[in-house]
This record gives sequence, C-alpha cells and structure tokens, in this order.
Amino acid sequence: MKTTASYFRVILFTIASIGVIEYLYETGTEWAMFTQYLFWLIVGCIVLFAIAFEICIEALETVLAHSLEEEAKVKYIAKRKEDQQRPFNKINAFYQRLLGSKSIKEEHEIILDHNYDGIKELDNNLPPWWVYSFYASILFAVVYLVRFEVFHDYNQVEEYEAAVEFAQKEISEWKKTAKNLVDITTVEVLTEASDLSAGKKIFNANCVACHKADGGGGIGPNLTDTNWILGGGIKNVFKTISEGGRDGKGMVSWKSDLKPLEMAQVASYVLTFQGTTPAEPKDPEGNVWTPEATDK
Ligand code: HEC
Repeated sequence: MKTTASYFRVILFTIASIGVIEYLYETGTEWAMFTQYLFWLIVGCIVLFAIAFEICIEALETVLAHSLEEEAKVKYIAKRKEDQQRPFNKINAFYQRLLGSKSIKEEHEIILDHNYDGIKELDNNLPPWWVYSFYASILFAVVYLVRFEVFHDYNQVEEYEAAVEFAQKEISEWKKTAKNLVDITTVEVLTEASDLSAGKKIFNANCVACHKADGGGGIGPNLTDTNWILGGGIKNVFKTISEGGRDGKGMVSWKSDLKPLEMAQVASYVLTFQGTTPAEPKDPEGNVWTPEATDK
C-alpha cells in the first residue's frame, strides 16, 4: 500500500465493518466487541482482506503501466499522481473557503498602508466560519430571550422536576424487567397477585414443615405476630431467607435453592401473614419490630 488514499480506504472500511458486525452480532445488551473474542477475529480477517484487495489493485495498475509505451507511461503516471491528490485538494479548498483568507501570493491586495516599525497589517475578511457562528449565536439569543424571558416557557425547577419524573418512570420500567436482580439493598415488598401467589407456592413447598401453612409456627417461629427474632420488614425477612437464621436453630440459607426474585416473592408472602390469626399460634419470640426502631 503506497498511497495515503488506500490507507484511508482501509481504515474507513475497518470502522464501517466494526459498526456492521457489532450491529449484527447477537449479544443482547452487551457489546460484542468487549465480550466476544470472535469479534476481533472477524474484524482481523476483514482488514486483511481489505489490505490484500488494495495491494491487488495497485499491482494491477503497475502491470498496466508497464505494458504501455514510454510516452503513455509518463502520462499515465502523472495522471495517477493527480488522481491521488484530488481528494486532498478538495478538502484543502473547502478549508480555505472556511477560513476566507487570501493566499500569500495575493496578500499585497489587502495590505494596509500604515507601517509601525516594519510591522504591517493585513485587512483580512472575517473568517466565514466565525461570521456564521456569530449570526447563529444572535439568532439563538433572540429565540432564547423570547422563549424564556417573555413567554416563560419553563424554568430550571420545572426542568429538574420533569427530569426526575422521567427518570422515575425509567426506573420503574427497569424494575419490571430486572426483578431478578433484587438483593438485600434493593428489595421491596412485591404487591402484585402473581408475585404473591408465586411466593405462596414457594412457601408451601419449602417452609410449611417448620412454619406451618398459616405461619403459626412450629420448629420455626410464629410469622404472624409483630415479634421478630431477626428483624421484620422486607429487608430483614429477605436477609433471613437468603442468609439463614442463627447457627444451629434450623433456619438455613436459601440463596442456593431460590433465585433472588423467588426469595423476594416468598418474603413478600411471609409479610402478608402479619396480623392474621393462625390456628395454633406459637408464642411470640424476639422483640416487637417497628421500621423506625431497627431498620438496618
Ligand atoms: C427446618 C425448619 C425450617 C424451615 C424449612 C424454614 N425455616 Fe424459617 N425459621 C426456622 C427457625 C428455627 C427460625 C428461627 C431462626 C433463629 O432463631 O435464628 C426461622 C426463622 C425464619 C424467619 C425469621 C423469623 C423471625 O422471627 O425473625 C423467617 C422470615 C423465616 N424463617 C422464613 C422462612 C421461609 C420463607 C422458609 C422457606 C423458604 C423457611 N423459613 C423455612 C426454621 C425453618
């Protein structure tokens, strides 16, 4: 690869293919480029292919040039050089237009006729990029002034409140899809009927032997009263189910058997026992728990 243009083409092609492969790669919400080593293997192959392609084209052109007569050859080579330069000429011309400055050759046209100790001044035009940004800022200021100072569209407080409301909506959307990500710090009481009935099923399958179906207690303590050994409230109950009770008491850790969502469901179900009257209630154990007193 001898020309800058071909390097450019290869780089552009590489960037484009990284974009396309990332788009096509099925990795859900993850980035394929960070998680899949195959990704870079494919990109590597594509880059090799692009380089090989450039080299082949160059070789073909060289072979073609050699088969020409002497005079045509010189012409051909000159033309090729010019072609390679052309994209840069265009970029250059565009850049010059943005600057709006005169080339050094034309500078004598705009030189001012005063002279301070040999320092002369050029009467350059303001660069167009600057002039247009200035006009744009004036337009912006007018619109801004009318919108916020005359019509009082919205103020910062309202903007903040809208942003918070939007974020809260997003959080609740996210919670719906991320229920399984709950842990001790984020768990909240689930109130949907489907979660509670799932919790009931888990309770009946795993917990009734010690706590009874109505929560009245047996080997385990009564779950219907306001007394708790290990603390009430969703966070403590979730923690007890997840980590287990005190050593040797019989309440094991359930986190290897139940998923986080299942623990949240059964914990929410356990809390529905509060205030009910079981058939054979076990005497209260532990202390009366209130959210304010022992919320850890
Ligand atoms: C082998 C019997 C047994 C099983 C099965 C059992 N528990 Fe327990 N549970 C206990 C005992 C015993 C305690 C008291 C632990 C302590 O004193 O540290 C307890 C405590 C608890 C507590 C805390 C009560 C308090 O007063 O702080 C909760 C909540 C609880 N269990 C829920 C459950 C749930 C939900 C299940 C089913 C997934 C379950 N338990 C299964 C025996 C059991």
